Amino acid sequence: MPQTANLLRLVYASRATQEMSFTRVLTIIAKSRSANKVRDVTGMLLYDGGIFLQVLEGAPESVRGLYAAIERDPRHHSLKVLFEEPTKTRLFSGWSMGHSGATAKDIAGLPGMSDAFLDGHDLDRLGETQVRTLLEAFRKGALDLQSA
Ligand SMILES: Cc1cc2nc3c(=O)[nH]c(=O)nc-3n(C[C@H](O)[C@H](O)[C@H](O)COP(=O)(O)O)c2cc1C
Repeated sequence: MPQTANLLRLVYASRATQEMSFTRVLTIIAKSRSANKVRDVTGMLLYDGGIFLQVLEGAPESVRGLYAAIERDPRHHSLKVLFEEPTKTRLFSGWSMGHSGATAKDIAGLPGMSDAFLDGHDLDRLGETQVRTLLEAFRKGALDLQSA
């Protein structure tokens, strides 16, 4: 994908229908990787304390189409788009779907992050400024991103 392409970055949070085991999260990621390669979508997924936080980036129609499918997935509910922006560059260019083991506590510990998440389970209350801080932390490698 050339750097000049018009891309969309979308970040949402959701609540898991049931508490997810690590294995079940990795199953979602493994399936996502092959499907996202086909759509040329990149991003990352983190799960902590019943909350998913996912970043999707790619051609706007690909991201919106994928989000529409993800939205219907019964494994989670109460999806909330935290942030959406047009961009020309990918933050997760090497990841058809990276997995972050970062926890809400790790996120609360980032500089500039408010106290709102200190109880550890409020990722879906991140505001736009905080999502930007979070994305910047991923970009700098301050939060881990792993291949599963
Ligand atoms: C939190 C969460 C994140 C997901 N992320 C992706 C993803 O990045 N890519 C993907 O293809 N499917 C993802 N899925 C799975 C989709 O919701 C859906 O199962 C998949 O697109 C297959 O849909 P289909 O059975 O209608 O073909 C995710 C599911 C959940 C619960």
